[in-house]
Amino acid sequence: MKNREQFSGNLTIIMAMAGSAIGLGNIWRFPYIVGEYGGAAFIIIYFLACLIIALPIFFAESVIGRRGGMDTFGSMKKLAPGSKWYKVGMLTIISPIIILSYYSVVGGWSIHYLLESFGGALGQETGHFGEFISSVEAPILAHTVFIALVAAIVLAGVKKGIEKFSKYTMPVLFILILVTVIYSLTLPGAGRGVSYLVKPDFSKLTAQAFTAAVGQAFFSLSLGVGTVLTYASYMRKKDNMLLSGVGTASFDLIFALLAGFAVMPAVFAAGLSPASGPGVVFETLPYIFSKMGSGAAWITICVSGIFFLAVLMAALTSAISMLEVGVAYLVEEKHLKRSRAVLYLSLFAWSVGLLCSLSFGPLADVTILGNSIFDFLDKLCSNWLLPFGGLLFTIFVGWKMPSADVLEEFSNNGKKPLNVRLYPALRILMRYVAPIGIMIIFLNSILGDLS
Ligand code: TRP
Repeated sequence: MKNREQFSGNLTIIMAMAGSAIGLGNIWRFPYIVGEYGGAAFIIIYFLACLIIALPIFFAESVIGRRGGMDTFGSMKKLAPGSKWYKVGMLTIISPIIILSYYSVVGGWSIHYLLESFGGALGQETGHFGEFISSVEAPILAHTVFIALVAAIVLAGVKKGIEKFSKYTMPVLFILILVTVIYSLTLPGAGRGVSYLVKPDFSKLTAQAFTAAVGQAFFSLSLGVGTVLTYASYMRKKDNMLLSGVGTASFDLIFALLAGFAVMPAVFAAGLSPASGPGVVFETLPYIFSKMGSGAAWITICVSGIFFLAVLMAALTSAISMLEVGVAYLVEEKHLKRSRAVLYLSLFAWSVGLLCSLSFGPLADVTILGNSIFDFLDKLCSNWLLPFGGLLFTIFVGWKMPSADVLEEFSNNGKKPLNVRLYPALRILMRYVAPIGIMIIFLNSILGDLS
């Protein structure tokens, strides 16, 4: 383990982890789910889901990663020698690369839209989005550029690539989204979008809403596939795990709320109905920005450019975290050179992504269990692989590792008094509450997939 890289400190860890957490999930899924399941009422449940299910799993992954000090396989082998637990590592090789494949397709769209914004070509007509994603060359080219960017950053290393990129990107990202929020809120009729997000409707808090909250918290905090574990393995022994977890989750939530206030007021101002998925971000918003803005044309162009730049940056900092998991594995377990590991994995993700991209066009008729290739992979990961991975991590830390070891790691050998004080509660959450919460999602997915 000579020369293993480390993040420079608490703040940079939070930037890198928040970079992973804040992504497309915050921008296109969160605002919609909030509106759909009762506005402020849902935000309360989401907050609770983060607190009692997602954060404990975040800490479970952090404990394994930092104590093991290696990739998923290596860390688990070290913490449970002789057992079969290290096989959980399999999941963390497959899942993040699958997510990267389809995530990069959408990342590519944001590059395309960014360029089009500045060319002033966006928003002239609706229907543009459908035409674009179902075409062959343009989205594939954009997807290729996106993967190449991700590969280049990861290739540069943990400190010079991931840390540096996240450190500069994250503050800029917050400024960009704030500008969009302000613009959105000044559109005539924006008020209805605001009330859609904040007006609490407790009658909508169904079992479905609960599952949606947990699922979103999982995806948003990048849990269950070894991303947090791998990043935590680059954390110094003296840094505070409690701080990095709470910091990451707070930034993630704040950004999700900001994205809500950027998207929904604009949608309502245009008299459209909110919908989930990429359509809102890539079709509705450019149209609205160009049609509703009262200012000069250049303002519109700037706002849509700013918005898509934010989408792109958010997507990049997440995508690098997906690639790093597999790269760490290949470098540490298979002794590959970093450059080769990056090359193989990004080529693989690129090829699978190709199929995902084509599944909006020529391959639209190819379905797997009734879903397009893109949707199938997204559902496979979001509904099954992520929660399954999270379940295994929390059981490992809650039931397999000696409690004293977990406490020692979580509290830096007892040097962080608040961590020591919170540990008994955390242990209950890791052993009982989080696993049961995940089982409930599974039950719901099984029932949902069967019906
Ligand atoms: N959290 C990111 C988002 O909300 C996506 C992401 C990054 C992710 N790394 C992950 C999701 C690992 C699951 C697992 O867009």
